[in-house]
Amino acid sequence: MKIVSHMGIAALLGTSLLANPYTTPQEEYESIVKTGNEVASTLIQTLGKNLKQHLKSEGPLGAATFCASQAFPLTDKVSAQYGREISIKRISLNERNPANAAKGSEKTILEALQKLQDSGVVLPKYLVERVDTATAKYYKPLHINKGVCLKCHGDISDNAKLADFIKSSYPNDKATGYKMGDLRGAIVVTITK
Ligand code: HEC
Repeated sequence: MKIVSHMGIAALLGTSLLANPYTTPQEEYESIVKTGNEVASTLIQTLGKNLKQHLKSEGPLGAATFCASQAFPLTDKVSAQYGREISIKRISLNERNPANAAKGSEKTILEALQKLQDSGVVLPKYLVERVDTATAKYYKPLHINKGVCLKCHGDISDNAKLADFIKSSYPNDKATGYKMGDLRGAIVVTITK
């Protein structure tokens, strides 16, 4: 396994999209990272807590039904909690919900991260994209890091009811067949000043 520092990552990614911690004023860079870390953790905790509760009380099908209708409202709620300067989304190259498909620079960055992951690099905990002087995007790579993720993103063919539900709700679902440790996507926190 190769470990790359955050500083070396822009060069490795082969993309000029990333903010260079040396040229973005340090205070600003640190504040973007601090906000991004906080907002992303709040979202992960919120979605994780709800997922856990619904899995416990209703099993995978009930929890998937809950996610299908509530993942977006919950994400928007966390977003609203941080005010108008912040917006949050979840993106993936193998999306379940078409609204979460990575596009533009987000796709470029996610593809670069996937390449690094495929070559055995331990991904950084976060990255910062400088969009323009007023806007930055904080990225937190998301992995399949719990066995429970596989209930709905692994091989789901043995749970016919769940598989049917997913197929009818998401006819173009690409988010199955994952294994433990795979890169699932990223949380993107857009910060505008
Ligand atoms: C009970 C079923 C279920 C479980 C368990 C589950 N997911 Fe999902 N996941 C879904 C559904 C349904 C969607 C699509 C709805 C949405 O969230 O927008 C989704 C969407 C996502 C997305 C957004 C990108 C996309 O493909 O649309 C990410 C990222 C994600 N899941 C990661 C995870 C991770 C990481 C875990 C383990 C901690 C996990 N999921 C566990 C059902 C599940």
